[in-house]
Amino acid sequence: MNEGEKKYEHDENFGHHHMDPPKPRQQEDPFKMSENPGSHVKKVYAVVSGKGGVGKSSVTALCALESARRGFRTAILDADITGPSIPRMFGLGPADVGAGEDALLPAVSETGIKVMSMNLLMETEDQPVIWRGPVISGTMKQFWTEVAWGDVDYMFVDLPPGTGDVPLTLFQSFPIDGIIIVTTPQELVEMIVRKAVNMAQTMEIPILGIVENMSFLNCPCCGQKIYPFGESRLQEAAGRAGLPVLGRLPMDPALAKACDEGKVEYYKGEGPEGLSVIF
Ligand SMILES: Nc1ncnc2c1ncn2[C@@H]1O[C@H](COP(=O)(O)OP(=O)(O)O)[C@@H](O)[C@H]1O
Ligand SMILES: [Mg+2]
Repeated sequence: MNEGEKKYEHDENFGHHHMDPPKPRQQEDPFKMSENPGSHVKKVYAVVSGKGGVGKSSVTALCALESARRGFRTAILDADITGPSIPRMFGLGPADVGAGEDALLPAVSETGIKVMSMNLLMETEDQPVIWRGPVISGTMKQFWTEVAWGDVDYMFVDLPPGTGDVPLTLFQSFPIDGIIIVTTPQELVEMIVRKAVNMAQTMEIPILGIVENMSFLNCPCCGQKIYPFGESRLQEAAGRAGLPVLGRLPMDPALAKACDEGKVEYYKGEGPEGLSVIF
């Protein structure tokens, strides 16, 4: 067991690698929103990044796929309206959202992953959202209070990048059980990790670990790993912060293609290999 793992010994669920679904929430935090009566969500994990375009949504999707592959009831709450959307990766559109008696019902992907997103509620996905921060936060909160998610073991929240108003408000209002940080080798990893650790400590939410996306390329000729951005400093930064590295993902045109075509569920490549610690 390395230093990063030791930090989480107090968490009774951390380090359990068996396939039992998580336990229901013990008590409601009075400062958090209450979930819709039609929702029973056991664990909520937020996926964060320092900036856009690093693959936060792709990693969110891969985490959800891994959860579903393990037989858990899985959902994605897309709270980031800045980039290409989660629904598009799963081939979902407005017609896939349902309406219950007094609640919205999430869209369900071909393999059974539940998804809710702003982009599922707007007629045209390419329209810019010109709302101000508080309106965006308010709408995202409704994805917790007004959507009947049903029984969910693991929900992954694709949070907006950075530490601005919207991500902070969402951090404070969603009952987040853990944070997954996504970085790339081009970034100032130390700074991103430090900011995330500060935020997590303030909110008293554990950081589950870091996924490095676009770490390397697998040479199509010989299969050798190529590091176009040089060897990353992630291990060092993670070690200093006492955080585990959950995995390094290659730059893989097949992943980009699967996402583009709405077929991310059928992507054959590996997700983050250290992900078992979160289940
Ligand atoms: N590991 C990867 N290999 C190849 N393309 C990737 C990878 N990760 C992300 N992409 C592509 O990069 C773009 C940005 O990824 P996305 O997940 O939308 O980033 P973010 O949510 O951080 O803005 C998308 O076109 C996506 O398909
Ligand atoms: Mg995104």
